[in-house]
Amino acid sequence: MRTVQVQAPSADYEVRIGAGLLAGLGPAVREVTGARRCMLVSGENVFPLYGGAALESLRAAGLQAEFAVFPAGEGTKSLATYGDLLERLTGARFTRGDCLVALGGGVTGDLTGFTAATYQRGVPYVQVPTTLLSAVDASVGGKTALNLPAAKNQVGAFYQPSLVLCDTDTLATLPDRELRSGMAEVIKYAVLGDADLFDTLMCGCYSMEEVIEICVRMKAGIVAEDETDRGRRRLLNLGHTFGHAVESKSAYRLTHGECVAIGMAMICRAAVRLGRLDAASEKAVSELLERAGLPTRTDFGQEELFETLLLDKKFDSGKLHLVVPRAVGWCETLAVTPEELRRWLEAGLDGNEV
Ligand SMILES: NC(=O)c1ccc[n+]([C@@H]2O[C@H](COP(=O)([O-])OP(=O)(O)OC[C@H]3O[C@@H](n4cnc5c(N)ncnc54)[C@H](O)[C@@H]3O)[C@@H](O)[C@H]2O)c1
Ligand SMILES: [Zn+2]
Repeated sequence: MRTVQVQAPSADYEVRIGAGLLAGLGPAVREVTGARRCMLVSGENVFPLYGGAALESLRAAGLQAEFAVFPAGEGTKSLATYGDLLERLTGARFTRGDCLVALGGGVTGDLTGFTAATYQRGVPYVQVPTTLLSAVDASVGGKTALNLPAAKNQVGAFYQPSLVLCDTDTLATLPDRELRSGMAEVIKYAVLGDADLFDTLMCGCYSMEEVIEICVRMKAGIVAEDETDRGRRRLLNLGHTFGHAVESKSAYRLTHGECVAIGMAMICRAAVRLGRLDAASEKAVSELLERAGLPTRTDFGQEELFETLLLDKKFDSGKLHLVVPRAVGWCETLAVTPEELRRWLEAGLDGNEV
């Protein structure tokens, strides 16, 4: 088992990564929360695969375990599902001494985390990520969220879990496309701050456990410094500005990871054209993304993407924080005006013909 300590200003907790950890879920939940009752929250794809083992371990550890299973997909991060989950907690008379356990991908994690943050002003929760994306990103760092009909992640809270238990065996059943999407975030960490990880990924000589640990360690370091996204944590948005625009234009036909891959390739191309990155690094990033089976280009045009960017993104006092690569393993954040953003977008789309 590998362990990463997250020392955020608001909470200190472990991320445990390893094969077969699900069997030890019950004792781990008891140890970190002290709870005697828990609500296991999961999705309809994940629960039939791992719900039984999770409940068995929780109950064997003496916990009274209830469960709530919701449909798979982004639609579950809604006010309606949130209301449903709150009703179940009040119906079962859950108190602040009880806890929640999220078993699933980022959708389950975000919903459970937000519910934990707000039910009776906060109950402890444990993340059990079962997608690569949630293992390296969503389950760590305490960002929780729900979507509103108008836009994603519009309601949320920073609320850290008491533990993240990542059983790497669960990744075996993940559909290939979801695994590839998670790899986009892994490649993001490499470009962002770890040239060695980039080389390791390029040569393909790694174990999933090792890669997850490296990514989580980097995220933990960033969260410790900037828990609430006011400075360094913004670096984690590499590839996400253009990526989100492609994601909303595609009406979610592309996965989040696929859009991040496109966004990352675009910002690298733009950085070369605007004199911030060398062409060889840009080529290497695109090559790694393509090797991972990820797209690097989009058919959407500049006008439609720019319009979406203006609608989607908050311009803080007229500026938006754009993460720009300077080399593999080194990025910086630039505050850009809408006009400057248009130039970056144009440069990112230059030579974009598929
Ligand atoms: N809180 C954060 O910091 C943060 C960071 C990144 C993303 N997110 C959020 O995470 C969500 C995306 O998360 P995701 O990519 O994990 O998607 P997801 O939770 O929708 O899971 C992807 C699909 O895989 C299935 N699945 C999950 N684990 C499985 C397994 N082990 N075997 C078989 N099928 C499995 C799910 O049922 C689903 O259909 C988005 O809502 C995004 O906003 C949050
Ligand atoms: Zn992302």
